[in-house]
Amino acid sequence: MAEGREKTARHFPYHFQLYNFGWKQYTLLAMKRLLAKEDVHRRVGRLAREISRDFAGREVLLVGVLKGAFIFLADLARRVSIPVQVDFVRLASYGAGRESSGKIRITKDLETSVRGKDVLIVEDIVDTGLTLEYLFGRLKARRPRTLKTVALLDKPSRRKTRFRPDYVGFTIEDRFVVGYGLDCDEEYRNLSGIYVIE
Ligand code: IMP
Repeated sequence: MAEGREKTARHFPYHFQLYNFGWKQYTLLAMKRLLAKEDVHRRVGRLAREISRDFAGREVLLVGVLKGAFIFLADLARRVSIPVQVDFVRLASYGAGRESSGKIRITKDLETSVRGKDVLIVEDIVDTGLTLEYLFGRLKARRPRTLKTVALLDKPSRRKTRFRPDYVGFTIEDRFVVGYGLDCDEEYRNLSGIYVIE
């Protein structure tokens, strides 16, 4: 990106998306930026340093929760100074819309055994906490040496469980956010910052 455009993007806190629904039917969606790419980059660096310190001298299996955590995990994995392995799980929660129903199942399991390993679950966002609590329980039963969780974003006001991640990037208010891996109906995962959809 040319320097001028980069500068404009940093100082103009909106992302506009123009949808073309056929002949002269356009919809313009404006999203307000909550966290700039630079804020996220800085915070991920700090989380990586904290995690590297806490797990010093050990190898950690990073378990990414698909799909939302794929960018966060990719950045975190490259910024920790300890050896890591990487694996992914995918979960589905029954129920419609943006609300998690609480009836969760694993639709893609790990390909690696967690038994005896230091495991860190990497999640994009904790909302009700039901997803992470479920996954934590399932992996704990497989006897890892240690099991911890990191979430880039946390919405504690929405919590329906007592689950608290060990590491949190940003605590945010009750807003639906997209970008940096997070989606709304599979859109916007590729935005570099975090944006609010009303
Ligand atoms: P929970 O089980 O309610 O904690 O939901 C966690 C999952 O819901 C996350 O992994 C996301 O996939 C999704 N989610 C919750 N809040 C948001 C949001 O604001 N934007 C995008 N996805 C979200």
